[in-house]
Amino acid sequence: NEMNVQWYPGHMTKARREMEADVRIVDMVIELLDARAPMASGNPEIRRLGQGKERVIVLNKSDLADAATTAAWIRCFQAEGAHCIAMDARGSGNRKLLMRTIEAAAAAKRERDKKRGILNRPVRAMVAGIPNVGKSTLINMLSGRSSAKTGNKPGVTRGNQWIRFQQSIELLDTPGILWPKFEDPAIGEKIAFLGSVNEMIVDKTELAVTLLAFLETNGKLEGAKERYQLKGTETAAEMLTEIARLRGCLMAGGEPDTEKAAGIVINEFRSGALGRISLEEPEGEAHGTQNTEG
Ligand code: G4P
Repeated sequence: NEMNVQWYPGHMTKARREMEADVRIVDMVIELLDARAPMASGNPEIRRLGQGKERVIVLNKSDLADAATTAAWIRCFQAEGAHCIAMDARGSGNRKLLMRTIEAAAAAKRERDKKRGILNRPVRAMVAGIPNVGKSTLINMLSGRSSAKTGNKPGVTRGNQWIRFQQSIELLDTPGILWPKFEDPAIGEKIAFLGSVNEMIVDKTELAVTLLAFLETNGKLEGAKERYQLKGTETAAEMLTEIARLRGCLMAGGEPDTEKAAGIVINEFRSGALGRISLEEPEGEAHGTQNTEG
């Protein structure tokens, strides 16, 4: 059941060039990862580009992930020396915690500046992550502006404005967009489950079948079994047919509309209706293994 997720290198090249330019002018990179799959949603490129910069890792969408697993990931990243917190960027409830974490990460830089006689220089930060991980939401939360993506509005200048907050922290208002790594099909799959891949390049039915098979294999099918009244003995393809019947997704001839059912399964997984499901566990293993830069 291996899906082959494709991507557009041209897209990636442009995003990477912009990211490289931005990262040069900041002291700190706030790396957004999806709490449900911190490895798959990370891009080793960002570590290479951000070398020598302070590193803050935000495990976002933690409201959709298993809480204990997220706590284990936090310990894991902290052991690596990164500042790491989990959050739901849609609410302002975590704003203070995030500010405090950014300030703590900035402290080392301020100290270095002080030793070199540089006073009151703001610490500059940028947000980076793969598509759909919540970058805009997080920037909006920090800047206190509405959820509108101002950059897409006519008449509003987009990009490279500094949002100033806290004890002289300056945040770049445009996030760095990183393309996910697809070389490993298992990574591409998870990224597709999370919705960070353009829907146009992934077959919906295939994605839903792969997702159901993944949940089954990893003992995470409980929520789906309950919600869709599955026996759990079916193949993933059979599950989808049953879900189509249950939800009344029928085609003209009365045949189950599995594509429509696939859309339901994917949306319900992404919204958390199938439970708070983490796709990756740290399991005490060194989780930098996906790094290619050594
Ligand atoms: P991006 O800039 O990294 O591409 O991501 P963006 O902020 O646009 O967020 C992508 C989607 O994820 C948005 O939903 C956003 O509301 C949602 N989101 C962001 N942070 C969190 C979080 O911590 N938890 C949950 N559950 N969702 C989060 P959308 O449906 O695409 O848009 P909208 O309907 O919310 O406007």
